[in-house]
Amino acid sequence: MTNNMKSLNDTFKTNNGIEIPCVGFGTWQTPEGQVAVDAVKYAIESGYRHIDTADIYQNEESVGRGIAESGIDRKEVFITTKLWNSKRGYESTLKAFGESIRKLKIEYVDLYLIHWPANKANGVKINADTWRAFEKLYKDGRIRAIGLSNFLTHHIEALLDTAEIIPAVNQIEFHPGYMQADTLAFCKAHRIVVEAWSPLGTGRLLNNPQLKEIAGHYGISVAQLCIRWCLQNATLPLPKSVTPKRITENAEVFNFTLSDTDMQAINSLPYIGGSGLHPDKIDF
Ligand code: A2P
Repeated sequence: MTNNMKSLNDTFKTNNGIEIPCVGFGTWQTPEGQVAVDAVKYAIESGYRHIDTADIYQNEESVGRGIAESGIDRKEVFITTKLWNSKRGYESTLKAFGESIRKLKIEYVDLYLIHWPANKANGVKINADTWRAFEKLYKDGRIRAIGLSNFLTHHIEALLDTAEIIPAVNQIEFHPGYMQADTLAFCKAHRIVVEAWSPLGTGRLLNNPQLKEIAGHYGISVAQLCIRWCLQNATLPLPKSVTPKRITENAEVFNFTLSDTDMQAINSLPYIGGSGLHPDKIDF
């Protein structure tokens, strides 16, 4: 199905019927201030309709300003933000959500994600309490879809024991050499849209010889190859850039289709670099 994506306006449909524009503009490591404002404005001018930020990125104010200054109608842009780890729990989630929309200067969020699962002894309860707050905000009409980030299968299974609402999205690290096959299969089986963070391996993959060779078959860059590869694996890529030329380049992924042979070759690559962050091991 996702081989048929033809433009940035094409969408992934969530299990609650929301449409998410198929390439999101990532802002992890984009610094607060004019850099973020200009990058977001430029992305919207270039046709992106989906912007991904997070409390911990500390750029929500500038992301919100970039969206406002672009002049686009609020309803035309899909905005995601995420709850930071130190703010988990029922009451503190409600408070943190209020802080995020105040910084973004918006009335509602399209997608709100739990940034990382709590992974200590009482993690299951903390995740369940946090999710109850997400469900309340969703029912109150403050969020159009609620979801997770960096949740592995066992975290999602535990959450589903008490959840009323099935998560719409799980945003995970996903790039050539790091497909997280178990989590991907579980999410697909539960109709949870998988979003790909660091689709370019935070830039680490761009000089990989095998990826360069395959990109050469199509006359495209390795960045475009990685982004298209995500789409053809039915995951939603979130490439980050603050560089106008790259922002445009990363959106030009609709006039070629990777062959099954090349998809298989990339799917079979061993680990060739990534963040090294594991949801069960992180201590932040
Ligand atoms: P910059 O923001 O300075 O343009 P990921 O999305 O996997 O996290 O990767 C983001 C990194 O890759 C950033 O360092 C970004 O640099 C760089 N990048 C993004 N798009 C491209 C591109 N088309 N070509 C080369 N580097 C890119």
